[in-house]
Amino acid sequence: MKIFAYNVEPYEMEAFTKWMDETGIEVKLYDGLLTPESVEMTKGYDAVTTCQVPPMKDEEIYKKLNEYGIKHIASRTAGVDMFDLELARKYDVTITNVPRYSPHAIAEMAVTHAMVLLRNIKAIEKKQELGNFKWEKPVLSKEMRSCTVGIVGTGFIGSTAAKLFKGLGAEVIGYDLVKNPEAEKVLTYTDSLEELLGKSDIVSLHLPLVDATYHLINADNIKLMKPGSIIINTGRGALIDIEALIPHLESGFLKGAGMDVLECEAIYVNQNVDLDKIKGTPVEKLMNMENVRMTGHYAFFTETAVDNLVSTSLGNIKTHLETGEAPNCKN
Ligand code: NAI
Repeated sequence: MKIFAYNVEPYEMEAFTKWMDETGIEVKLYDGLLTPESVEMTKGYDAVTTCQVPPMKDEEIYKKLNEYGIKHIASRTAGVDMFDLELARKYDVTITNVPRYSPHAIAEMAVTHAMVLLRNIKAIEKKQELGNFKWEKPVLSKEMRSCTVGIVGTGFIGSTAAKLFKGLGAEVIGYDLVKNPEAEKVLTYTDSLEELLGKSDIVSLHLPLVDATYHLINADNIKLMKPGSIIINTGRGALIDIEALIPHLESGFLKGAGMDVLECEAIYVNQNVDLDKIKGTPVEKLMNMENVRMTGHYAFFTETAVDNLVSTSLGNIKTHLETGEAPNCKN
């Protein structure tokens, strides 16, 4: 069995090497994207893996793979929207994904944002840079054990975050359409999102982006949040109407926001950005606000998650080629 890996990043090398050592299977590592031109490189291989955002919708890609006898593209991502699943099916190419790679990675980022905001770290650092090391009222903080944390979306990541917040001593409440028995071990469900927003000192979002969750946090319900509360989003940017949120952060009605994701993040995530490009966007404003923490979709980015992305995607291929059954098949 021989596998061709596209778009391999230096931070993935260790995980690939480990998997090759463990299985004895050869994987050709290449740093470029899978395109109608580069698909030629897969001749003589049995399957392909890639991790890329730019779309792979050109029929030529699937046609060539079919010609070369390649029946599998294993994406080292959860989302597969960059593929044309119909075309893949037409040319008998199975597309697989990695549905979850480390709930802890994302949950820990939510807790990190919450702690840094709760303890006023950005404001303390700014004071210190000016030589002011005095204990002063504006940076006097609450302790996590005196906070109520509201988890919105209590699936794999939300329930993991709930356990971490509980471990720090917080009272944890949750809102979800479906109750998760695992989450119920550490949190109490509210009957509505509005109830959760009104009771929480820290609100942490862990939902998928679907029609029903688009701008779930908006001008109408931000007003229902507890004055002085903190909001954390490691779910998807468009869960929050950021234009509606910013004035409440500026006025101090909300204490702070921790944003791993933003609706307009495509303009900067995983790129070197000319800062002129973000001028005038909410990104520029948020980055300059003392009570906002921003991480550009880094929540998943841990050694464990990267290792799981690589090993699960290669494992999808191995199982498919050995048994004919493709785990995590998306088409
Ligand atoms: P999951 O499917 O285990 O949990 C999602 C939960 O949201 C479910 O319990 C579901 O019932 C609930 N939900 C869905 N629609 C709802 C609604 N309208 N109202 C209330 N609850 C609703 O998913 P998981 O693995 O916990 O991931 C959650 C989200 O985290 C993902 O959908 C993704 O958007 C985000 N994510 C972010 C990453 C990052 O690097 N920032 C990385 C991976 C995931």
